[in-house]
Amino acid sequence: MIIVIIGAQWGDEGKGKVVDLLADRFDVVSRYQGGHNAGHSVYVGDKAFVLRLLPSGIIHPDKVCVLGNGMVIDPKAFFEEVDQITEKGVSVSPERLKVSSRAHLIMPYHRALDHTSEERLGNEKIGTTLRGIGPAYEDKAGRRGIRVADAMDPELLKLRVERNLEEANRIIVLYGHQPLRADEILAEISPLVERLRPFVCETSHFLAEARKASKKILLEGAQATLLDVDHGTYPFVTSSNPTAGGASVGAGIPPHHISGVLGIVRTYATRVGEGPFPTEMLDSEENIANLIRERGNEYGSVTKRPRRCGWFDAVATKYAAELNGFDSIALTKLDVLDALEEIKVCVGYQMNGERIDTLPAVASELRQIEPIYETLPGWLSDTVGITEFDALPEKARDYVNFLSEKVGVEIGLISTGPERDQTIIIGDSTMESWFSGN
Ligand code: GDP
Ligand code: IMO
Ligand code: MG
Repeated sequence: MIIVIIGAQWGDEGKGKVVDLLADRFDVVSRYQGGHNAGHSVYVGDKAFVLRLLPSGIIHPDKVCVLGNGMVIDPKAFFEEVDQITEKGVSVSPERLKVSSRAHLIMPYHRALDHTSEERLGNEKIGTTLRGIGPAYEDKAGRRGIRVADAMDPELLKLRVERNLEEANRIIVLYGHQPLRADEILAEISPLVERLRPFVCETSHFLAEARKASKKILLEGAQATLLDVDHGTYPFVTSSNPTAGGASVGAGIPPHHISGVLGIVRTYATRVGEGPFPTEMLDSEENIANLIRERGNEYGSVTKRPRRCGWFDAVATKYAAELNGFDSIALTKLDVLDALEEIKVCVGYQMNGERIDTLPAVASELRQIEPIYETLPGWLSDTVGITEFDALPEKARDYVNFLSEKVGVEIGLISTGPERDQTIIIGDSTMESWFSGN
């Protein structure tokens, strides 16, 4: 069984919590795109983990974790995370952590280029995480990237760094920054590359063998559908494909071997960085946005930036469901809405006086559209930690059912807090069948 977990909105839907919860029932957890722009928070007892590059399954000592070929890996960030997690008592060995030989490396000049690109864009900047993600994917598509396997040959690594840096420095200097030095980069990278060597693996073959041996595989998406470079709110997106098709390419798994797709959806929406956000709470709703931000701890797990908050967008989420083929949805953060008297849900868009039911492709149009809202009553009572659907207040159940109906997909899991056990699994759902291992 191979299940893909995908963020349906603009990220931070709670993928980490759900992957951690499901990981118990699976044997292998693999990331397939992105890099340390991700921040997946997992709480286990009194310990808090923020996973950036490592799959959230790493916390389970008997699971094997994979960093797939579609990822971009900063070796420094990789070992910082490995060391941090080891300090917290999680053992991380090459037996249980495999890094694709075909994944691309993020180099120090990619970080510098991410900065210059954002500076150059000025008011139009994307608000990236400045981790070098975009420039590393540019090099990949430009066929000059340095892959993990390439870096294992010291001569090739030197050659590629020198050649790529020559070009990168032209841009870095043009924007008034100090050029980087190849010898310094190599002095920093080479020991890290050596340390990486035992982790390197033909991961697509490893995953194929695991599947043949009837192992259960979880594919952990980072970022989300609306940040997808093809399907998201371009150009305000990341540079990879978090959507379901990307899982097949980025893990090296044939599409027809994927058994199911689980969408992770928040009961409201957030966005970090710039870019259109049709249901963003208005200035007049600032107190609601602040309440949600505080109750939901809506600050970036990586950058600590306050997340922009908005209402649930059923049009955008339906688009995500269609694109990814969600079989089931895990709805997170129900408890965050406990304090609201009324809750708005966007059920359509209006543009130039006309109703539209799809997401415009152009950012300027996305900025123009006016959401059409339906307002539902809040339940104004505590749902934190509830584990049974029937124990939820009636209005909370109505809200959940309303979202499921508008998006057209079952809600198979409801999260009522950040902890593992603060979860409702809906009986007789597709999600329940995955959870119970059928
Ligand atoms: P990810 O990037 O999709 O893994 O999400 P993040 O970890 O960046 O952000 C989600 C945040 O919400 C984390 O701090 C989680 O611990 C927290 N969280 C997840 N599910 C729930 C929930 O049901 N209720 C509350 N209150 N917090 C949750
Ligand atoms: P997780 O996996 C939320 C956003 C950045 C920026 C845009 C491009 O935790 O959900 P990048 O550095 O990728 O080039 O930035 O994408 N972004 C995220 N927003 N959650 C994430 O990851 C994100 N990863 C990137 O804020 O707007
Ligand atoms: Mg996150």
